[in-house]
Amino acid sequence: MLRLLALVELLAVVAVSSGADNFGREDFPPEFLFGASTSAYQVEGAANEDGRTPSIFDTFSLSVGADGSMASDQYHKYKEDVQLMVDMGIDAYRFSISWTRLIPNGTGQVNPKGLQYYNNLINELISHGIQPHVTLHHHDLPQALEDDYGGWVSRKILKDFTAYADVCFKEFGDRVQYWTTLNEANVFVMGGYDLGVLPPQRCSAPFGLVNCSKGNSITEPYRAAHNIILAHALAARLYRRKYQGKQKGFIGFNIFSYNFLPLTNKSEDISATQRIKHFYVGWFLDPFILGDYPELIRKSAGSKLPSFTKAESKLVKGSIDFFGVNYYETYYVKNNPSSLPREYRDLMGDIAVEMIGIRNGTTTIDFANTPWGLQQLLEFFKQAYGSVPVYIHENGQVTPRNSSLDDYTRVEYLKGHIGATLGALRNGSNLRGYFVWSFLDVLELFGGYETSFGLHYIDLDDPDLRRQPKLSAKCGNADFKKDDK
Ligand code: NOJ
Repeated sequence: MLRLLALVELLAVVAVSSGADNFGREDFPPEFLFGASTSAYQVEGAANEDGRTPSIFDTFSLSVGADGSMASDQYHKYKEDVQLMVDMGIDAYRFSISWTRLIPNGTGQVNPKGLQYYNNLINELISHGIQPHVTLHHHDLPQALEDDYGGWVSRKILKDFTAYADVCFKEFGDRVQYWTTLNEANVFVMGGYDLGVLPPQRCSAPFGLVNCSKGNSITEPYRAAHNIILAHALAARLYRRKYQGKQKGFIGFNIFSYNFLPLTNKSEDISATQRIKHFYVGWFLDPFILGDYPELIRKSAGSKLPSFTKAESKLVKGSIDFFGVNYYETYYVKNNPSSLPREYRDLMGDIAVEMIGIRNGTTTIDFANTPWGLQQLLEFFKQAYGSVPVYIHENGQVTPRNSSLDDYTRVEYLKGHIGATLGALRNGSNLRGYFVWSFLDVLELFGGYETSFGLHYIDLDDPDLRRQPKLSAKCGNADFKKDDK
């Protein structure tokens, strides 16, 4: 009760500088979805059980000392987790399928235990009225395919990814309507093929951020991105030809984006800001909407960037029914044609920009709370891509893993951003849903088990990994007007 009162009190004093600041669920259209997100390797655990084999995410995490073999153990606790979702009052759950749980070799034989698990999870969600929103690739390509032919840098991936998507559509598409082919493709490419800080830990010579022995070709990030875009488009075409008539679902793609603001009002910083927006967003979304890479990227990357043939451009254009964005923070952008810090020399060097963070100043770990940035970013999407439906697939605040259950900074952050979402809706954005990252404490992509975004706490020393709702678990459905739930 004390905690409830604390929440009410807090919400009464939180003021947001943009969007709406006094709102409740009823201010959103009834069909607007509130949900929470996770991803397979980060939450399932059971990484070595029931026939699952390693993905590049396993290899990466183990190499930085974060073992996902238990993670949050959702594999065994999915029923309990769905009950927590019901308690939160959310409409939808965004999770990913582990390719190597379903098809352990990456191609060929389907694993009956993998099928069973995802059928169970999906059925449990649906029987409780929660919509499944499924991602097919969340940084977790089968390690076997990486070893065999280099994974996403090879065109062989196109056939294997489409075959995997086919299995998912066939087996789960009678109950799953929302499919996202890849999560944060832009971060995956920058982190995994340029900086070497994400799976599969390849980097462009000679400036990888970490000591990185694989990759070493500046064309790789552009090639991997090209194959990702084509793989998405092939999966979408397959769905539309083979399944859509009956299943009536939607195929989308996901990117990460900061909101970018020029550091000064000098024209060089303003144009640097445009370049970085094309780089983060246009590089991936323009092909799906306009059929080609942005002019700016074609210029800056030059011959490193593959081009679409006429047939590919036709295949790719129009191949998304929606896109999802993961938004956390706003950054300032500065033109910087020379002497860039080490981590910006390669891909970012191509566009000659440097990013400068905004910090709260109070702690070293949490994100700058810039909800107005979300509204600005959504406004940019509306101007660039018109009425293509958008989901906020991830948004949330990071804290140290073992901090208080009264997570005021997260509550404040979520309220601000949900308010900004409402503001964007009122300004005409075609927004369809908002998902918090993350439903519960998970193995973090960069932070391992040290940091967390969860709405539910899991004490890793507890052998039962019991879930404890944080104060923020009450924010997941935007019911900020109710004082007692
Ligand atoms: C990005 C990724 O999709 C997810 O895997 C990660 O844990 C969160 N955002 C937080 O960094």
